[in-house]
Amino acid sequence: MLKVRLARQNELERVNELRMQVNALHVAGKPDVFKPGFSEELRNFVYAIWNDPEQAIAVAEMDGTICGFAVLHHINRPENPFMKERDFLDIDEFCVDEAYRRQGVASAMVAYIRDFAREKGFHRIELNMWEFNQDALAFYEAAGFRTFRRYMEMFV
Ligand SMILES: CC(C)(COP(=O)(O)OP(=O)(O)OC[C@H]1O[C@@H](n2cnc3c(N)ncnc32)[C@H](O)[C@@H]1OP(=O)(O)O)[C@@H](O)C(=O)NCCC(=O)NCCS
Repeated sequence: MLKVRLARQNELERVNELRMQVNALHVAGKPDVFKPGFSEELRNFVYAIWNDPEQAIAVAEMDGTICGFAVLHHINRPENPFMKERDFLDIDEFCVDEAYRRQGVASAMVAYIRDFAREKGFHRIELNMWEFNQDALAFYEAAGFRTFRRYMEMFV
């Protein structure tokens, strides 16, 4: 049985195992940006997230095993001369364990995140992703996300 809910503190080390998978993927796909390995600093970062009242960690549990997680971050950007105030829920990190993919776990996590956002009164969910990660793009598009902004680069 699959259930998505908020994480418990004693599950954060398991969440870190999944964060390590995402980090390895990012290092392989964008080595000019991401630092190799999964440093102690990066491992401890999960506790900073845990202690931040503006962030929450959701987990997917299948038959007693944590098989996915998402970091949810409430962002408020005040109005400025160019832009209106922006208030949204940002998905900062998102991963399903390799062994549990293509079974609808991420889809269940997105359904949970939408309910979570609505309950908190947020009207918009945002996320960013790296262009090399076409698997993630295929999933996010299948889940209903649309690209609204792009980052571009040129090496000189
Ligand atoms: C992207 C990711 C979260 C998808 O998780 P998942 O649990 O396998 O996704 P679901 O089973 O809910 O997929 C739902 C639909 O999304 C699409 N989809 C998911 N993964 C896909 C892939 N690798 N290639 C193409 N389409 C994909 C399909 O339409 C799929 O439906 P189907 O299985 O019936 O064809 C997972 O592959 C993952 O954790 N990847 C590594 C970490 C990562 O990239 N995180 C996001 C960026 S930080």
